[in-house]
Amino acid sequence: MIVERRTFLSGILATGLFAPAIAQTPPTPDGPFTLADLPYAFNALEPVIDARTMEIHHGRHHRAYVDNLNRAIQATPALQGQTLEQLMARAGSYPVTVRNNGGGHWNHTFFWKTMTAPDLGGAPAPMLAAAIDEAFGSLDGLKAAVASSGAARFGSGWVWLIMGPDGRLAVTSTPNQDNPLMDVAEVKGVPLFGNDVWEHAYYLNYQNRRSDYLTAWWRVVDWRRVSERHEQAVAIIR
Ligand SMILES: [Fe+2]
Repeated sequence: MIVERRTFLSGILATGLFAPAIAQTPPTPDGPFTLADLPYAFNALEPVIDARTMEIHHGRHHRAYVDNLNRAIQATPALQGQTLEQLMARAGSYPVTVRNNGGGHWNHTFFWKTMTAPDLGGAPAPMLAAAIDEAFGSLDGLKAAVASSGAARFGSGWVWLIMGPDGRLAVTSTPNQDNPLMDVAEVKGVPLFGNDVWEHAYYLNYQNRRSDYLTAWWRVVDWRRVSERHEQAVAIIR
């Protein structure tokens, strides 16, 4: 009986149907896009975001977006030679894999650069602080809007602070890996910061407590960087 079972199993395995998934994965393309190292150590954001979460988030999730985007680009000559921003601007016209993985690459690259070690990010520069007061009443008003928008995002997505074409700030949310630069975004604008509300961004530390993660996240926001982005966005519309 045991021999028969072994024969059966070896017969099944010989079909190749149960070969390890890795053998089915096409080789990782070299480009055109690449995964940059994080601008800080994996543990730099602790205790707000733990090192293991950062390691998996950057090394596996972000890497997968880059690899899958590269595969899509290499398979579609019409997409070659475009910058990531150009791909975002026409995401609605491209295969959904470009929208999802291109968005994933842009969003995460932007996200890493939005953060710094806890309590070292300073405060909004005066011009940004004035724009926040005008749109939300106060910095606490902005935080409340982000908490509300982040909690309301069903499933996976992002919550953003953007500057619209009129120079006014707004908090928005996008599903999946969409972002406010995409032609498909309900509300478009220049992103000043984005927070990742996919469970992979916080689950090890916060489990299902997304609101706790959203509250803690303010400690790692690099306001100097966000203020620079605002200054550049204002210069463009002036
Ligand atoms: Fe993510």
